[in-house]
Amino acid sequence: MPKTGTTARPAVPKKKTAKPAAAAPVTTSAKPPAAAPAGKASALEIKDTRTSNTYSVPVSEGAIRATELKKIKTDDPGDSGLMSYDPAFLNTASCRSAITYIDGDKGILRYRGYPIEQLAENATFLEVAWLLRHGELPNQQEYDRFVHEITFHTYVHENFRKFLEGFRYDAHPMAMLNSSIAGLASFYPSARNIFDETERNISIIRLLAKTPTIAAFSYRHVKGLPFVYPDNRLSYVENFLSMVARMSESKYEANPVFARALEILFILHADHEQNCSTNAVRAVGSSHVDPFSAVSAGVAALFGPLHGGANEQVLRMINEIGSVKNVPKFIETVKSGEGGRLMGFGHRVYKSYDPRAKIVKKLADEVFKVVGVDKDLEIALELERIALSDDYFTSRKLYPNVDFYTGLIYRSMAFPTDFFTVLFAIGRMPGWLAQWEEMLLDKEQKIARPRQIYIGPAERPYRSRLKPKQTL
Ligand code: CMC
Repeated sequence: MPKTGTTARPAVPKKKTAKPAAAAPVTTSAKPPAAAPAGKASALEIKDTRTSNTYSVPVSEGAIRATELKKIKTDDPGDSGLMSYDPAFLNTASCRSAITYIDGDKGILRYRGYPIEQLAENATFLEVAWLLRHGELPNQQEYDRFVHEITFHTYVHENFRKFLEGFRYDAHPMAMLNSSIAGLASFYPSARNIFDETERNISIIRLLAKTPTIAAFSYRHVKGLPFVYPDNRLSYVENFLSMVARMSESKYEANPVFARALEILFILHADHEQNCSTNAVRAVGSSHVDPFSAVSAGVAALFGPLHGGANEQVLRMINEIGSVKNVPKFIETVKSGEGGRLMGFGHRVYKSYDPRAKIVKKLADEVFKVVGVDKDLEIALELERIALSDDYFTSRKLYPNVDFYTGLIYRSMAFPTDFFTVLFAIGRMPGWLAQWEEMLLDKEQKIARPRQIYIGPAERPYRSRLKPKQTL
């Protein structure tokens, strides 16, 4: 249990060291979440029953430094110190971040202190992109310049046509997006100068500007339609919709309800602190590779059905269920484990309703007013109703997450199912980039390299199990 009012000391055996520990206690100016009297540090007293030594581990910001545990050792000379074992990072903070705050129990999500509800209602996606990176909302001059820069960089090199044309007609758009984003590194070799602020800036602009273009090109490739080049007269979202949907019109005019709905969805997806894909971007970026390569790792992680790929799976699941009357039976198969998971439900962090899901549900109503009610909405509502009144789900705190209703909105805008996660990726790009830069500039960060507990065989001599080679 954390003790307050004790002087923080590093984890060294009390018995064996007369002097205070070599390593300094962790100090920080931020307020610790657990109440500690002002001016007094708190510490965790640990008694090692293997040695009867006791240790005092400083507690700061509600955490102990895992490296402090390394100092807890037995007398065995081979003992390199205690580790913490945390598969899937259930309770390990990998960084200190000022970007996004989540309170999973209360259903709170804030970007740089601003509630997601207020940003979704009032901000533009590019305003949010600026906010995530710079920590403050842009003023008019900063915003105009940022919008201009993004607009100026929406075109991709003509060789990209050949690159995308090389994919099969039925390639999954996330596979195309992932490899294309990684491919951008080959067009901008100077992006490897990641500690040059100008290079970082232009790479970030390029990624924000070109991702919608690449995404739209991959859509057109699958459809067998000619690529539509960016139209710099349009806003970020309208331009994306134009590149996706424009046919022979001289100027594409997006449905304003669709354009605003997509803008809100991009804002909702813009960051979500240390989720799987962001962790991938940070881990890959920690090797000091260029940002295109680091972010492509994020796209790859997002593709998975437990992460961003869930929005696609929700629609596939609803299609399989087929009708409202089949919902109770389907729920039973989920509970028994035969039917897989209820996609779009559950979250590692949110243990009450995902605040993004609330906004998405409301948004769906607005979009359906324009296009008519999606035929599968009834099934989704019934799934939600039954799940929220079933002990299996409530006892595990499984509530609809952001992906539960987004698919229905995307489909009503006529996006194909396998394109849904691409839309998530466009939205998440500013978050990945802000987190990548924060990681790079954080003096405490080093190359990400977890420990392991080795459980394989002990040393053994090589004895081939292949058939002996025939000799003539
Ligand atoms: N349907 C049925 N059971 C579930 C579900 C679900 N969707 N999610 C979790 N559970 C059960 C799970 O079987 C386990 O039960 P038990 O304790 O009996 O073994 C318990 O709930 C805890 O699950 P967990 O796998 O330990 O939870 P996690 O925090 O590791 O997983 C999750 C979080 C989002 C991967 C998971 O809830 C899930 O697979 N959901 C479905 C996929 C999905 O919708 N993903 C989108 C997440 S939100 C957007 C994003 O981040 O991309």
